[in-house]
Amino acid sequence: MIPESFIQELLNRVDVVDVIDKSVPLKKAGANYSACCPFHNEKSPSFTVSPTKQFYHCFGCGAHGTAIGFVMEYQGLSFVEAIQDLAKMAGLTVPQETYDPAKPAPKVVVGLQESLQQAANYYKAELKKSPRAIDYLKARGLSGQVAAKFQIGYAPAAWQNLQSVFPHYESEALTIAGLVVENDQGRRYDRFRDRIMFPIHDQKGQVIGFGGRVINPEDTPKYYNSPETPLFQKGHELYGLFLARRAIRDAGRALVVEGYMDVVALAQFGIEYAVAALGTATTPFHITKLMRQTDEVVFCFDGDNAGLTAAWRAAMNALPALTDGLKLSFLFLPKEHDPDSYVREFGKEKFELEIKAAMPLSQFILKHLSENNSLQSQEDRVRFLNEAEPIMQQITAPRSAMFLRKKVAELAQLSPEEMQSLLKLPNLNKTPVNARPKLTRTTLSMHKRYCLMLLMQPALALREDLVWAEGRADEDVLLQQTIEICLIHPHSKPVVIMRELEGRVEAKVLAELERELNILDETLDLVQELEGARRQLYDVYTQRKEDLLLAQISEKPLSTLTENERTLLKSLGNKRSQNRA
Ligand code: GTP
Ligand code: MN
Repeated sequence: MIPESFIQELLNRVDVVDVIDKSVPLKKAGANYSACCPFHNEKSPSFTVSPTKQFYHCFGCGAHGTAIGFVMEYQGLSFVEAIQDLAKMAGLTVPQETYDPAKPAPKVVVGLQESLQQAANYYKAELKKSPRAIDYLKARGLSGQVAAKFQIGYAPAAWQNLQSVFPHYESEALTIAGLVVENDQGRRYDRFRDRIMFPIHDQKGQVIGFGGRVINPEDTPKYYNSPETPLFQKGHELYGLFLARRAIRDAGRALVVEGYMDVVALAQFGIEYAVAALGTATTPFHITKLMRQTDEVVFCFDGDNAGLTAAWRAAMNALPALTDGLKLSFLFLPKEHDPDSYVREFGKEKFELEIKAAMPLSQFILKHLSENNSLQSQEDRVRFLNEAEPIMQQITAPRSAMFLRKKVAELAQLSPEEMQSLLKLPNLNKTPVNARPKLTRTTLSMHKRYCLMLLMQPALALREDLVWAEGRADEDVLLQQTIEICLIHPHSKPVVIMRELEGRVEAKVLAELERELNILDETLDLVQELEGARRQLYDVYTQRKEDLLLAQISEKPLSTLTENERTLLKSLGNKRSQNRA
């Protein structure tokens, strides 16, 4: 038996978007992600993944579930196997729970997330009470508004402040969450003391950790972060991403900076699409995460040498994640600046001009490789080639790789063929074949699917729909009734429309709709999806009507047909034979 608490922990730790994206590349669509459903054949995407609800759902075939459900369905694994698979991905060991009454129940850590959220609330409230912390933030130019937006707080100076927040200060959850530290003598005390607190959120908006900055410049270290915990892995998380999501979509780009303060200052000055790695190098996970939000990522590191080194590391870490659709570039600020100081001095517009002029990845790579290399002698060119080789090996995006290879060959004074035979670079034309199992599923009918979407956004119902949606079968009635009610209540919530439908359509159908509705995200972007379904339905009804007409006319003796009926018969007959051809 796998303990339920572990399953919860696992679901907390993995992101369903990450899990699915590994097998079915997802595209952002409004607040969610979409793709063509892997569980049935389709040409336009009805498969949606909600990052906030941590669910996937297919409008076409009704497939839905959590990350665990997806792994089971997609890989054809059992529940236990799916958990093992996900645990491996998340770096967790699956504990076993046995039904041995003699043994004490295994200790289970619950409430990590809740503890972190409670701590965040506490730190936020403490900031209001500390003139010293407020003055510090004011002196750094932070507005109250932006401090509130980022839920910035303050951890007071005493050793055991959190005792007032948590009645069970000795609880293991607090140590595992990284809020409380225990020393060798077994004495427990708060990890964060006399620090400005920056809560770190995951993609679902939950607090998973903190960064704490000293106020007193003599104190060290300047920043102190939560340790790695079951909820918080620095190499996977980006500070500010949850808040920046919308701005990233609107701007069509994400800006990666180095510091917490950079993210906050940029947001205050209207550049709300910035995120920061958490004092680690930018990892391929970071890049992949950002690529799911946008096709353009600009790195902006401090103008000093450390910033330059960080930029190069980011570039190298981005290589495996590179695709041809992704634009990566690098912005180098003047030596004395970081994004925080730059935006304060020059403002948003100037900053965005710099962003537009940022150096593309390929140019940065070539510039870096030829920086201390004049490429004059044969030895210079050999060294250049040696340094370029591992970089080229890692780029598999065909176009980006091809252009870089061409440039490298040029600089090394080789033909592309000579270079290829020398370096054995990966073949670019081969795209890996992704064998996907196709599983069969019961399909939610087109009618129900359409009604479900109307329930979610009744304002999208059209009066014309009633014109073509004829018939007296259960599904026809459902369709007509739903459209009618939606037209009367265009701004009502789904439950209201459901209530109106009661008694007008079969209870069984209602129950089915309700079940589907419960697992959906109300922020789904439905307009396009609904339009497609409407077209399909329209076609079905038109076809049905023509069939009926044709049957009626063809039963009559030819001589009794009116002129109109003859023309109709001819045109429909022609259309049919064309369709069949
Ligand atoms: P300010 O000095 O407040 O403007 O912060 P900053 O964000 O500009 O910091 P800096 O550029 O010095 O560092 C960038 C990031 O590196 C910080 O936001 C932290 O995430 C991390 N960092 C900096 N100093 C330390 C440190 O002493 N310890 C740890 N763990 N991380 C640090
Ligand atoms: Mn700074």
